[in-house]
Amino acid sequence: MSEWLEREKNVLLPTYSRYPVVIEKGRGTKLYDDKGKEYLDLFSGLAVNVLGHCHPRLINRGKRQLDKYLHISNFYYCKNAIELGEKLIDRSFPGKVFFCNSGAEATEAAIKYLFKIGVKEGRRGIVVIKNSFHGRTLGALSATKMNGVSQDFPSIEYPFYEISRRQIDEIEDLFIEKQPLGILFEIISGSGGIQVFPEEELLQIQRLCKKYDVIMVVDEIQTGIGRTGKFFAYQNFPIDPDILIFAKGIGGGNPLGGIIVRDQFDGYFSPGDHGTTFGPNPLSTAMGLETLEVINDEFLCDVKSKSQKLIKELQLLKEKFPEQIGEIRGLGMMIGVEMLIGSKKDYDGMNYIQKIQYNFIEKGILVNFTQGNILRLLPPLIIEMKEIQEFVKTFGELLADYSAS
Ligand SMILES: Cc1ncc(COP(=O)(O)O)c(C=O)c1O
Repeated sequence: MSEWLEREKNVLLPTYSRYPVVIEKGRGTKLYDDKGKEYLDLFSGLAVNVLGHCHPRLINRGKRQLDKYLHISNFYYCKNAIELGEKLIDRSFPGKVFFCNSGAEATEAAIKYLFKIGVKEGRRGIVVIKNSFHGRTLGALSATKMNGVSQDFPSIEYPFYEISRRQIDEIEDLFIEKQPLGILFEIISGSGGIQVFPEEELLQIQRLCKKYDVIMVVDEIQTGIGRTGKFFAYQNFPIDPDILIFAKGIGGGNPLGGIIVRDQFDGYFSPGDHGTTFGPNPLSTAMGLETLEVINDEFLCDVKSKSQKLIKELQLLKEKFPEQIGEIRGLGMMIGVEMLIGSKKDYDGMNYIQKIQYNFIEKGILVNFTQGNILRLLPPLIIEMKEIQEFVKTFGELLADYSAS
């Protein structure tokens, strides 16, 4: 076992349970550990590395920026931020952008923006969805309704009304009773188990938002930047959000997040209302610009066809192993596979899910589970067909081993 595991235990607060893999470098869809072992990365640093690791175009763009400057503060104009803002608006809707460093900060900015609108309009409160994830800072955590994450940390003094995905029919009653200012939701719940909002429910939400003047805010932090085969996931559906929050993939592997506010709602932030020192980080925005150039229509078409192939192969596995695979759901390269936990509880001291996880690692494939038993696949969008086949073959072999044991 690597000495780094022990050293980490002595120095870092244990906020994550890590797999025993010490990463040395990454290239494309592959990561390499400190012993030189190669892994196919189907997690992309939690949906961040949309173009894989060390994409040559991103590295070159980043190096060019490093030669110019790394940080200037928000007191001067940054060309990259302006250009990236323009391009994000081209890829979404007419509006204005605020840049920050992470997903949680983007959620915070959206909450503050809604608050400011509410002060003027005399309305308060945001509807959020049960089992949603919007970040871990206290504002974002107040909007996050997920067991084990929200816990009993203090929440901000602002109304967040929780509704479950199964209660969408009751949303009108909630809008009438509470008169909330906004609704915040993920088009596909990432940490919540890859639940895709059906189109008719999204349309229903949009219709009710219009009827009751409720501002529709979509969290595209995990679903955005090409992940679902469209630049933003909402573009798979005939809906028009009012505010969009993004992060993860946009910075080409560097910290970057932000919000886009539709023109109709412009004018509620003035200098001093919000900010952050590292804001539109020049390196992150440089790499973000290059990321956007790579993720063009042709690239997105390719994501879709690879996704169809992956889903089809997974369906075939489900037919072969119906006692182990349940629902397969998702869009593009954001796919959840429900693992049905059998009656056997103990696999060499591990539960079934831990055992699959470790077996994948042994076979050189990095995957993730969420909500206990949902295999969450978030591969780099540059994954190749042959790598999809390699994963499915290994998965099939593992499932056959479990069937036999
Ligand atoms: C949908 C969603 N919103 C918000 C966040 C929080 O982002 P960050 O971890 O960058 O603060 C995440 C992170 O996983 C996410 O998936």
